[in-house]
Amino acid sequence: MDDERTGVGAAAGVVLVGFMGAGKSRVGMALAHVLRVPFTDTDDLIEQQMGSIAEIFVNQGEAAFREIERRVALAVLDKARAAPCVVSLGGGAVTDGDVRAALARHAHVAWLTAPLDVLRVRVLAADVERPLASDERRFAELYEARARLYEEVATAAFVNDGDKPLDALVSELASWAGAHERQS
Ligand code: S3P
Repeated sequence: MDDERTGVGAAAGVVLVGFMGAGKSRVGMALAHVLRVPFTDTDDLIEQQMGSIAEIFVNQGEAAFREIERRVALAVLDKARAAPCVVSLGGGAVTDGDVRAALARHAHVAWLTAPLDVLRVRVLAADVERPLASDERRFAELYEARARLYEEVATAAFVNDGDKPLDALVSELASWAGAHERQS
């Protein structure tokens, strides 16, 4: 396969994008297991390399976090083109133009969506601290602003509003990635 928007090799690989609370990490881990490929979560990588994201926001500010996120996301997306894997991309990574350009070179970019109220409940219940989720109004504004970016980079959208069991959603994603791979 040699066109610009290439897949990630013989086996399927998928990049998951979407807002905080969409379930990218949970779904991504399960999907990687089904596809038998490695799973990479850019938030986890950032925390392994630089320490807690919440502390980076407090000590260095959002702009510094975005620069770190950009570097990590670009490296991961580049690697994912050479070796199939499932990538969960932090919710704000798509705000960077270079990251969006890198995503345009991937065939399987799945946008995980859910209604705002579902996302908010999940984020508040999580044991991960998300600096941009503490203010309800800001969370809603970000959700509105980000939607067009996810839509722009995604090659398909999948609803993860809690109605569908995890297994069913993961099967849907796996068949989509496999079917898409065969066509390319
Ligand atoms: C953020 C999303 C978070 C994390 C950081 C900022 C955002 O990742 O990178 O708190 O700007 O949307 P998740 O989408 O994995 O929660």
